[in-house]
Amino acid sequence: KTIEIIGAPSAFGQRKLGVNMGPDAMRYADLIERLEAIGRVVEDKGNIESPAIDMKKYRSEQEGGLRNLPEVVEFCETLCSEVDATIAAGKYPLVIGGDHSIAMGTISGVKKHYDNLGVIWYDAHGDLNIADSSPSGNIHGMPLRALIGDGHPDLVNIGGYKEKVKVENIVLIGMRDLDEGEKAYIKEVGIKTYTMSDIDRLGMARVIEETLAHLKNTDGIHLSLDVDALDPLETPGTGTTVPGGISYRESHLALEMLHDSERITSMEIVEVNPLIDLHNKTANQAVGLLVTFFGDKLL
Ligand code: ARG
Ligand code: MN
Ligand code: MN
Ligand code: MN
Repeated sequence: KTIEIIGAPSAFGQRKLGVNMGPDAMRYADLIERLEAIGRVVEDKGNIESPAIDMKKYRSEQEGGLRNLPEVVEFCETLCSEVDATIAAGKYPLVIGGDHSIAMGTISGVKKHYDNLGVIWYDAHGDLNIADSSPSGNIHGMPLRALIGDGHPDLVNIGGYKEKVKVENIVLIGMRDLDEGEKAYIKEVGIKTYTMSDIDRLGMARVIEETLAHLKNTDGIHLSLDVDALDPLETPGTGTTVPGGISYRESHLALEMLHDSERITSMEIVEVNPLIDLHNKTANQAVGLLVTFFGDKLL
C-alpha cells in the first residue's frame, strides 16, 4: 500500500510552541527518503491548514480548563476529513504531529472505516483526563478520553459522531505519569495497561504478544505513538518528558512485531518538538522508528 503522509502541525493542545514544527523536523530528518529506501511508495500530502496562532492568547492563562478549545476542534475536524479521504483512496495513513490532541482528528477519521477499532496508546501518559481531572487544562492530556466519549461535547463529537473507541479495545503501553483521576478511571473501566514496571517484568516481546491477543476481535488497529513514551535520553525534544522510559531498542522490537503482525491499519507519531531538541535528535529517532514500523529488516 502507498503510505500517505499527513502533516498535522498543531501546538494548540499544550503550551510549548515548536511542536507545530514536528512534521517538518521529521521531513528534514529524511522521513520520505528513508521510507523510499526500504522500497515503500510514499506520497506527502503536506501539512493540513491550521488556525492561526495568536501568541498572546496562546501563552495566556485561559479560563474554563480547556486551553485553545476552538482551535483544537477546528484543527481536528480538518484532520479527520483528510484521514478519512486517505483511507477511502486505499492508502495507508501516516499522520505526523503535532501535539497529541490531533489523535481526536486522526482516530475520528479512521474509525469511519472500521466497526470495531482497536487502539494502541504508546505513551508515558494516559491522556485520559477530562477538564475536571486535568492538572493543566492542556487538551493533549485528554484525547483518548474524548474518543471514548467523555468530556466537552465539541471534543467528543469531532467528525460529527461520538464514541469512537471502546474501553476494551484500548491497550496503554509505557505508562509512568498518570494523574490521580486517570488512575481511578483506568481501574474503574478496566483498560488493559502496561506500565513501565510491567514492561520491565514481562519484557517488550510478551507485552506486544499480549496486546495483539487482547485486540484479537478488532477489525483494524490504530497505533498512536507519543515520542515521550521513550526515555528522554533517547527523545529529549518533547514537551512533557518523564524519566525511566522505554528504550529506543525496545521500541524497535515493539514496532517490528507490530509490522510483522500485519494488523496495524493506521499510525500517528506525535509530540516531536524541534525547538527544545538537541540537533533534531528526536525527529531522527522518530524517523528511525517509522522505518522499522514500515518494514525495514535487520537481516
Ligand atoms: N497528564 C498531564 C496533563 O493532563 C500530561 C499530559 C501529557 N500528554 C501528552 N500528550 N504528552 O496535562
Ligand atoms: Mn505523553
Ligand atoms: Mn503528571
Ligand atoms: Mn500523549
